[in-house]
Amino acid sequence: MCGIVGYVGSRPALPIILDGLERLEYRGYDSAGVAVLGDGRMMVHKQAGRLADLKNSLCEGSTGCVGLGHTRWATHGRPSDANAHPHLDCSGQVLVVHNGIIENHAELRAWLERHHHRFRSETDTEVIPHLIEHYWEGDLEGAVRKAVRRLEGSFALVVASTREPDKLVVVRQESPLILGLGEDEFFVASDIPAILHRTRRTIVLENGEMAVIDDRGPRVTDWEGAPVDKPIIEVSWDPVTAERGGYPHFMLKEIHEQPDAVRETLRGRIAPAGGVNLAELQPLEELLRSCRRVYMTACGTACHAAMVGKMMLESWVRIPVEVDLASEFRYRDLLLEPEDLVVVVSQSGETADTLAALREAQHRGSQVVAVTNVLGSSVAREADAVIYTRAGPEIAVASTKAYMTQLVVLALLALHMAQLRGTMTPDRIARRCAELESVPDRLKLVLQHEPMLERLGGRLRDEEHVFFIGRGADYRAALEGQLKLKEISYIHAEAYAAGELKHGTLALITEGVPVVALATQRQLLPKIASNIAVARARGGWILAVGLRGATEIQQLADEYVPLPELSPLLMPMLAAVPLQLLAYYAARARGCDIDKPRNLAKSVTVEG
Ligand code: AGP
Repeated sequence: MCGIVGYVGSRPALPIILDGLERLEYRGYDSAGVAVLGDGRMMVHKQAGRLADLKNSLCEGSTGCVGLGHTRWATHGRPSDANAHPHLDCSGQVLVVHNGIIENHAELRAWLERHHHRFRSETDTEVIPHLIEHYWEGDLEGAVRKAVRRLEGSFALVVASTREPDKLVVVRQESPLILGLGEDEFFVASDIPAILHRTRRTIVLENGEMAVIDDRGPRVTDWEGAPVDKPIIEVSWDPVTAERGGYPHFMLKEIHEQPDAVRETLRGRIAPAGGVNLAELQPLEELLRSCRRVYMTACGTACHAAMVGKMMLESWVRIPVEVDLASEFRYRDLLLEPEDLVVVVSQSGETADTLAALREAQHRGSQVVAVTNVLGSSVAREADAVIYTRAGPEIAVASTKAYMTQLVVLALLALHMAQLRGTMTPDRIARRCAELESVPDRLKLVLQHEPMLERLGGRLRDEEHVFFIGRGADYRAALEGQLKLKEISYIHAEAYAAGELKHGTLALITEGVPVVALATQRQLLPKIASNIAVARARGGWILAVGLRGATEIQQLADEYVPLPELSPLLMPMLAAVPLQLLAYYAARARGCDIDKPRNLAKSVTVEG
């Protein structure tokens, strides 16, 4: 998500910090900030916008040799100067940069305000410097130790103080942080590319660890203060590979980030007893209870997520739902009423058609919930309520982790509405929540099929057409699978509701034609089995992605990718991974420009 760089050494820290932040720019950010200490004063400068603007507006130099910097990708609080990091305590003596999310920030903020702390930003992060100030008893390390015990959520922190200006204290919990060891100088960073050109000798901090870095180097301990012996790891990546976290393409990196992304999406949104907690929907609670119909609208992959969301809402909330491509929404004779709820889904929050659909809905008097990944985006600003997917920046044009987290958010939305309207028992909701919490681990299991999907992707290299079939939620998942294959490998692909094959498309299934069949819906297994049998009888080559233990399907298929089982409407989350990997490896076998497919843009900000 955000980028962190810190330095302790004998050279001026400022250029080193700025240079490190520049090397993290590719990840995307909306504001930046730096702080330098160690020359008898403290310089802090932060602002919304590009790093280049921050550099240009730095009127004071600094010779201090201790520094920290941050590029922010907003999660709590819009992009603004005040919300940029570092954040300070009331006295202006404690500085913090943070990656991650503090789940209990609202509660901590209220508590700190009762203890007369004054806040200057809307961020979750700002509670941290105030907590450190609160627990100050003469040493920075001790105060940080006490403060972090109050935090729930994910955090990588770099902390400095004018009271001990020669050191940094760093902490890791669920958000990456690495230390770099140079010659008499030391670095800290959220990502290897920030420091790779300075040193290849690194220490990777684990959850529950912290370090004090001064001119003697880093001393790593656990949060209780017990020393931890850490191995030094030599990084052999070249700078380009390092940007992609060691993966050859951002798309593959983002596919592998999905378990962590889902964890972030769920963080703080499921109550310990199993209910859903979407506080961001509070302003629309009355409408969520009373609306009689839901319209969902989005483009491309986001629309495929909405199609699964429709099934969740219909099944769990017992409410009629219509899904429209945003490019069609405005141009048909909509029967939208002010008392209908509208849900728009957009990774970027800037897609012109989706934004226009949102405005049209509001123009007709409806209220809009946005599901988006980008805080401060146009969709987020204009919607009546927003649920963020928290997937982190998605760089590859082909959407993977954004789609996955959209599915998770839509499941949460449906469960939240079911809770408000009493259409599911608390027990049933708790079971679905427990299943959602199991998704990250199950995704990891599915990712283990990567070598097989590499081979199968290679098998598609010279194909011109691939058909995807499925029934129910599998049909919606198949739509996403075919789009992935088309957009990055340029192989023509079509998805069909499997029952439709016999109404025309079967004419195209001849000897050797690849058919990817999804068979994850237990109640529909006999039906999809007969569809597969029909395609096979015409000579089709069948790659089935199905439930583990569905032997009939496995026997009918030429190749079989088994998936662990969840409730049928959650299965598109697991089915997405093999389809993404299949598309990725087919594109790779064909030598395509995977992260930047021809003719496509990540964010389509014009109507066409
Ligand atoms: C997905 O792989 C595509 N790149 C595309 O369909 C995308 O989902 C669509 O353009 C919508 O974008 P948005 O989610 O940013 O609105």
